Amino acid sequence: MTAITHADFIDRAVEVLKENDQGAYTIPTKGLYPFQWNWDSCFTALGQAHYDEARAWTEIETLFEHQWPDGMVPHIVFHVWNDGYFPGPDVWKTGRPVATSGITQPAVAGFAVKRLYDRARNKAEAARRARALLPKIDAWHRWFYDSRDPRGEGLVAIIHPWESGRDNSIDWDEAFERVPTHGVEPYVRRDTQHADPAHRPTKAQYDRYLWLVQHFRGLGWDNARLHDASPFQIVDPGFNAILIRSSSDLADLALELGEPALASLNRARAEKGIAAMERLWSEPQQQYLCLDRVTGKLIDSRSIGGLMPVFAGIPKARADSIARTIEKLAEQCTYIVPSHEPSDPRFDSKRYWRGPVWLVVNYMIADGLTARGETAVADRISRSSLRLIEESGFAEYYDPMDGAPLGGGRFTWTAAMVIEFLRKA
Ligand code: DGY
Repeated sequence: MTAITHADFIDRAVEVLKENDQGAYTIPTKGLYPFQWNWDSCFTALGQAHYDEARAWTEIETLFEHQWPDGMVPHIVFHVWNDGYFPGPDVWKTGRPVATSGITQPAVAGFAVKRLYDRARNKAEAARRARALLPKIDAWHRWFYDSRDPRGEGLVAIIHPWESGRDNSIDWDEAFERVPTHGVEPYVRRDTQHADPAHRPTKAQYDRYLWLVQHFRGLGWDNARLHDASPFQIVDPGFNAILIRSSSDLADLALELGEPALASLNRARAEKGIAAMERLWSEPQQQYLCLDRVTGKLIDSRSIGGLMPVFAGIPKARADSIARTIEKLAEQCTYIVPSHEPSDPRFDSKRYWRGPVWLVVNYMIADGLTARGETAVADRISRSSLRLIEESGFAEYYDPMDGAPLGGGRFTWTAAMVIEFLRKA
């Protein structure tokens, strides 16, 4: 792209961010996702900071205003009633003053806040706002290890696929067989009215998503009970990598802002996590794999979740192997990085997290590879991401074979990532 098109694409990305801005939080896209989503907001803030730093801090502060007393930060905040989304507050019934869901999402906030602070033009203001968020993010991290790693293994489990953000990944297929569907209350999906059903999870998966929600609701959303009571407990390397990176970034930031005790707690969590991650490495696959905590076995499924640990401080040799694995993936598709290995018969280039490319994942992988000196592969990922935008606009996700735009359109976090990629291009 030329310098002129850079400016043009940034303008168009800012337009998307602004049209989805609700004042103090941003919706991912109109129609399909009409509320505030946790990790979407943290990535969104990075894009907003390019044109309005104060607004970017507000995005994350609003999210943390809805943190639960036990430290959890919910995956959706239902700020304003909208019946265009299912399942809404009447299904979750979490009893919060402002309705929220009852599960969480990848812990991007620690990473995002550090990045906002590092780049801040107004350092004094950034320090003030970061200092107020530090204990809240730390409480969320503590919650993760208390509630989702009850035996102190160093890695946390997700108890619902929606927590990973990779809702219908092939990684969950086998474990999902254990989740029953009897007793699921009748429901009408709204997502398939906004997006092509062929790009979305199946009904069989939705039945199980809802069974889990009803099961946790029946346990009063008591996080002291949910992990052990869930038939679905998966240690996802990607999810853990984000938490580890955020813990490590929070430790650096806390040290800089004069909070050494908070820094050491987060440093210790990150170091323990990196050491524990070794258990998930697969030599034959040259990437990490998910662990099914119920069976104690690694899951033979080569998804993006196993490449994302490069975003955390894994050993250099592992980061290099992941770069080689991505080069092999690039031989099989036109656009990288596909969310699943294309030679797997379960791969589906159009269905949500079973094959399509997602720019937020590309961003994290490219960031990690750059930090480890694998700049050629990182640049290749950035170029591929920008080509997708150029050819297919600001879609929710993209077909890695033909680049077709998929899911929702005019998508906030995609726009935010475009600004981030162009910043370096
Ligand atoms: C959805 O509804 O598709 C979301 O991914 C759940 O958070």
